[in-house]
Amino acid sequence: MCEQNFQKMENIASMDLKEKIAELPQRGFIDMDIDPTLDLFEEIQKLKKEKNAVLLAHYYQNADIQDVADYIGDSLQLAQYAEKTDADLIVFAGVHFMAETAKILNPTKKVVLPDLHAGCSLADSCLPGPFAEFKKQYPDHVVLSYINCSAEIKALSDYIVTSSSAETIINTLPKDQKIIFAPDRNLGAYLSKKLGRDMVLWNGSCIVHEIFSLEKITKLQEKHPNAKMIAHPECEEAVLNVADYIGSTSALLKYTSTDEATEFIVATEPGIIHKMMQASPNKTFIPAPPNNACACNDCPFMKMNTLEKIYLCLKYEMPEIIIDENLRLAAKKSIDRMMEISAQAGIK
Ligand code: 13P
Ligand code: SF4
Repeated sequence: MCEQNFQKMENIASMDLKEKIAELPQRGFIDMDIDPTLDLFEEIQKLKKEKNAVLLAHYYQNADIQDVADYIGDSLQLAQYAEKTDADLIVFAGVHFMAETAKILNPTKKVVLPDLHAGCSLADSCLPGPFAEFKKQYPDHVVLSYINCSAEIKALSDYIVTSSSAETIINTLPKDQKIIFAPDRNLGAYLSKKLGRDMVLWNGSCIVHEIFSLEKITKLQEKHPNAKMIAHPECEEAVLNVADYIGSTSALLKYTSTDEATEFIVATEPGIIHKMMQASPNKTFIPAPPNNACACNDCPFMKMNTLEKIYLCLKYEMPEIIIDENLRLAAKKSIDRMMEISAQAGIK
């Protein structure tokens, strides 16, 4: 191609890119056509190598994303990985609070999220203004917040917990210590009951875990009497009451590979079933059905990530997670407490 034509094409491409960048806050992702002949799997691998980038994926991502990722984990495992990685670029195939936590823990790295609008109903339910007012009503309480919250809420919290670390962290607190737990009322109620601790709960919930149909699950249990029903503690109490095992995402995965049962009804986001099947290819996994007409219970936020968005995000290193330094430092304190206690307890 002659130099002039090449320059013209480059100019058009950079004009187009400028427009796409200007659209980012509204659209959430780089919306560009991709050459349909490209093998995205290969291109992503190539770009990762060229840029010394790492692709982290939560267990709730689609199978294709999990397969191209460098590391797959639950919220705590991903935070632990992000904190220690020496990659220059972290591409987070998860939701916003996860990428934000990675940036808080490892601020010299560039952290990008394929779609800025990949939020979380729990994080959305807990806004800093109302939460600060709520906190004021309980001045002698320690604030424990589930990692599924914004940096602002983390800055208003004493401890961050994940579903895999919450019990251990609560058990480090004196028995008479009063506790506020936010933002998940279901996880809070489960922990409060299990650990015998009185807790003031913020009234938030996960739209994915709250929508399981007890009636349909019970019918499935009747149809599959040998199946073990396993559930994430973000589910409602009525669903947890009929579960054979309750655990965090990684605990559920471990349980299915070590338990002797060969059939499981899985009451959590179905993305995890990909890893469960890989770990136990001879076992059967039945996703627990929701209480609506939908066939699946996918998290609409987690599923905003696609191979196309990951490719463009890796190529253009956008959208980037940017966080005010004062806010980062304020939020880091509560996350650091979780990281320290988890490390001491060997939770990973
Ligand atoms: P974990 O990955 O910590 O189990 O959390 C589940 C979840 O809903 C993440 O958004
Ligand atoms: Fe949030 Fe629930 Fe989706 Fe997890 S599964 S990101 S808690 S909405």
